[in-house]
Amino acid sequence: MLHTFFFSPSDTTRRYAKAMTEAFGGDSQLIDLTHGPCEVECDLIDGDTALLISPVYAGRIPPMAADLFRQIDGHGMKAIVAVIYGNRDYDDALLELADIAVEDGFEVVAAGAFIAQHCI
Ligand SMILES: Cc1cc2nc3c(=O)[nH]c(=O)nc-3n(C[C@H](O)[C@H](O)[C@H](O)COP(=O)(O)O)c2cc1C
Repeated sequence: MLHTFFFSPSDTTRRYAKAMTEAFGGDSQLIDLTHGPCEVECDLIDGDTALLISPVYAGRIPPMAADLFRQIDGHGMKAIVAVIYGNRDYDDALLELADIAVEDGFEVVAAGAFIAQHCI
């Protein structure tokens, strides 16, 4: 099962999250952290995979999103991390999200940065 955790104030990251999750196929759930910690069932079990996806703000993960991603317990599961940026630069954001995932206990197996329309 794929568990996709996303944070998306202006909806672009959510659209990427949905498209990437659908591309994986199989069982999946989208977990929206935009308004705070997830309130849906999101227990992670061995053999599952997680996708953590965030927009880039000032070259970093938005602090509120970083705090929410830090609350996930990865249980040694494989994780993919992705950042969405407005075609200026993603600077250290992808590294920061990968570091958070490792601190959560995930094994990061893939990472990518994807361009979107700048929301400002
Ligand atoms: C406060 C703020 C800071 C941003 N900083 C960057 C940046 O450093 N580099 C960049 O390429 N885009 C930057 N962006 C653009 C966003 O990363 C981009 O629009 C992203 O798609 C927003 O995701 P969302 O639609 O899911 O909220 C910034 C946007 C905001 C609102």
